[in-house]
Amino acid sequence: MIHGNHASTAPTGTRVVMTGAGGNMGRGLAPRLLAAGYQLTLSDRKPVDGLDAEARFAAADVQTGEGLQAVMVDADILVHLPALHGIHVVDHIEREFWDLNVNGTFRTLQAAIDAGVRKVVWLSSQAWHEPNDVYGFTKVIGEQLLDYHRVRHGISYVAVRPASLVPWTDWARDYGRGLLYERVDRNDVLDAIVSSVDYVASNDNGLVLDALHPDAVPAADLAEWKLDPIGTADRLFPGARAIVQRFGLDISAPPVKPSKLGWTETGYAPSRDFGTWIDQVTGLSDDQVKARTSNY
Ligand SMILES: NC(=O)c1ccc[n+]([C@@H]2O[C@H](COP(=O)([O-])OP(=O)(O)OC[C@H]3O[C@@H](n4cnc5c(N)ncnc54)[C@H](O)[C@@H]3O)[C@@H](O)[C@H]2O)c1
Repeated sequence: MIHGNHASTAPTGTRVVMTGAGGNMGRGLAPRLLAAGYQLTLSDRKPVDGLDAEARFAAADVQTGEGLQAVMVDADILVHLPALHGIHVVDHIEREFWDLNVNGTFRTLQAAIDAGVRKVVWLSSQAWHEPNDVYGFTKVIGEQLLDYHRVRHGISYVAVRPASLVPWTDWARDYGRGLLYERVDRNDVLDAIVSSVDYVASNDNGLVLDALHPDAVPAADLAEWKLDPIGTADRLFPGARAIVQRFGLDISAPPVKPSKLGWTETGYAPSRDFGTWIDQVTGLSDDQVKARTSNY
């Protein structure tokens, strides 16, 4: 099965258990992992809406540990998703972040070890680079928990660090322009996670994977971008001039070069960039563009 540029094939009979399966990432991952041939146990606090008939469901609370043992039965690979996010800092206190993101990860890793599960894909974040923010801090601790369990208990893992994929409200300003800077397309992140599952299935080590937008702007063009952003954008992404001017996009800052930890090892090859967005938006009317809503 090919998603983006990654062809995924599961080792026969490999069972993936996914905690937090009812959320944004889980809903996108389940059909992809099934299509790749993985057997699936989905877990969340409550049954997952629209559960695929081929998947098993087992309720568990990763924070209290209730139900976790049953979830791990027959599992080979754990994909652990539950977390409070950066957007939750406004209405959740630090202790709540600690309880779900840190204790929830620790409890789930311990349940995995108890059940003989030795392969883990864990969702970190680019917020890992901001350890003085409570969300980023829990991602730093989480990656340390993974490495502790690698050294002490022999797990192998991939810590996936996505950039922002929060649902967008303005397709041009938030999503399209964002692909030059802080944002990554959700489908590329889902590809990154599937690549990570494939990777841990057949490797025994610890790895970080930067789930970022494609490296679409050569380093040699960044200096020119500073002098002539629109002209450089139009040369690299034909049609960009008209779209940037039409939507009044501020692209004066040079694009962000993605860090590529783990790309070679996992085969992660993101494919949705500013240029693919320009191609999509060119030819649409203003009303059609305005009518676009984030479908997740
Ligand atoms: N969405 C982003 O922009 C983004 C970016 C970077 C990293 N991440 C990371 O990706 C992971 C998944 O994100 P998402 O967008 O799918 O999150 P989400 O909030 O959409 O889903 C989280 C799921 O976890 C479940 N959950 C919450 N508490 C639980 C508990 N105590 N026990 C069991 N399940 C519980 C929720 O019911 C929900 O279904 C998170 O670790 C997040 O930090 C997300």
